[in-house]
Amino acid sequence: MAEVAKKGLEGIVVAESKTSLVNGAEGKLVYEGYPIEELAENALFEEVAFLLWNGRLPNKAELESLRSTIATEAALPKEMIAQLKSYPVKADPMAMLRTAVSALAMYDADSEDQSVEANRRKAIRITGQITTICAAWDRIRKGKEPIAPRKDLNLSQNFIYMLSGEEPDATASEAINVYLVLLAEHGMNASTFASRVTVATGSDMHSGIVSGIGTLKGPSHGGANAEAMHMFLEIGDPNNVDAWFKKNIKEGDRRIMGIGHRIYKALDPRAAILESKAKALAESSGNEKWFQIAKKLAEAARADQYFIERKLFPNVDYYSAIVLYTIHLDVDMFTPLFAMARVVGWSAHIIEQFANNRLIRPDVNYVGPMGLQWTPVDQR
Ligand code: ACO
Repeated sequence: MAEVAKKGLEGIVVAESKTSLVNGAEGKLVYEGYPIEELAENALFEEVAFLLWNGRLPNKAELESLRSTIATEAALPKEMIAQLKSYPVKADPMAMLRTAVSALAMYDADSEDQSVEANRRKAIRITGQITTICAAWDRIRKGKEPIAPRKDLNLSQNFIYMLSGEEPDATASEAINVYLVLLAEHGMNASTFASRVTVATGSDMHSGIVSGIGTLKGPSHGGANAEAMHMFLEIGDPNNVDAWFKKNIKEGDRRIMGIGHRIYKALDPRAAILESKAKALAESSGNEKWFQIAKKLAEAARADQYFIERKLFPNVDYYSAIVLYTIHLDVDMFTPLFAMARVVGWSAHIIEQFANNRLIRPDVNYVGPMGLQWTPVDQR
C-alpha cells in the first residue's frame, strides 16, 4: 500500500500559486508581493481585488473603472430578489448564500463560458452580487424591502448602505473595508482548495464559488468568527473569563474558537491588525466589554502551558468577531461577510487553476473487507 499523507493533508503542498504567501513560522502574510500590514493600512478592497485578479496594483483610472463596474454588476436579477424572498426567514445565512450563488449561475450569460475573459467578468460580477445578496437577505428576513446598490459607492460603503438604507456610516464602512482587505486571500485554505478541486474537473466558476462557500461555513474555518462571538457572549463579563477558561478549557473538552491555525505557529498577522482595530472601535463606541473579554481570554491562553506547547495563537476570526459586533452586524452575518471577502481569493485561484489545469484526484488505500459472497436480500 502507498504511504498515506498525514491526516488532514497536513504539510502537503498541492500547487504553486502567485496569489499569496502565508509564512506560518514567522506569522507573515503577503498578497502578490505586498505585506498585509501595508494593504490593511492603505488599500481599498477593490484595489486588493484588482491586485489579486491581475497581479499588480491598478492605476487611478483602472481602480475607478473596477469600483464602478463592481457597483453596477452588484445589482441582482429581479428573479433573484423574488427567490430570496421565498427562502425561509430562519434559514442560516450561509445556507442562503450557498443556494443564492448557485442560482445566480442560471441568470449569468457567461456561466458556461470558461474563457479567461468570461471568468474575469464573472469574478467581478459575483463579488458585487454576493455583497448585495448578503445585505438584501438581512433586510428581507427582518421584513424590510431590499435596497439596490448605488453606483457611486465603493463595495464596503454599498454594503452598509444596502443594509441600513441610510448614508453609509464612515466608521462602519472603513471597518468593513479593512476586514475585507484582510480576509480576501489566504493561500491553500480549505475553501480555496475546495474551489480549485471543483473547477479542476472543468466545471464552472459559480460551482467553484459554491464549493468555497459550503466549505467556509464550517466552524473549523470561516464559521469560527460567529462561534468566537457566541463564546464571548456566553462568557458575558471580563470577570467571568478565568472561571470560564478553567471550567470549559482546562477541565472541559471545548476549544477556544478563533484560536489555533493549521499553518500559523506564530501570531496570525491579521489578528494583530484586527486586535488594534477592535480596541479602537471599542473605545470610540464607549463599550469595551467585549474587547476586554477577548483580550483577557487570549491572555489566559497565552500564559497556559497547553497553548504554549501547541503554539496556539488567536487567528483572524478572533478579534474580527469583536470588530463586526461593535459595528452592530448580526452574529450570523459574520461568516457571509467572510465570503464577501474571500470570493476574490477563490476567483483568483479559480482563474489560476484554469491557466494550468489538471484534474485534482488523489488516491486512497482500501482497508475494507475482501472476498465476501453475495447473499440475496431475503436471506440477509
Ligand atoms: N483550543 C484548544 N485547543 C486547541 C485549539 C483551540 N482553539 N486548536 C487546536 N487545539 C489543540 C488540539 O486539541 C490539538 O491538541 P492535541 O495535539 O493534544 O490533540 C492540537 O491543538 C492541534 O489541533 P488540531 O485540531 O490537530 O490542529 P489543526 O491544524 O487540525 O486544526 C484548527 C486547526 C481547526 C483551526 C484548530 O486550531 C481549531 O479548531 N481552532 C478553533 C476553530 C477556529 O478558530 N477556526 C478558524 C481557523 S482560521 C480560519 O479558517 C479562517
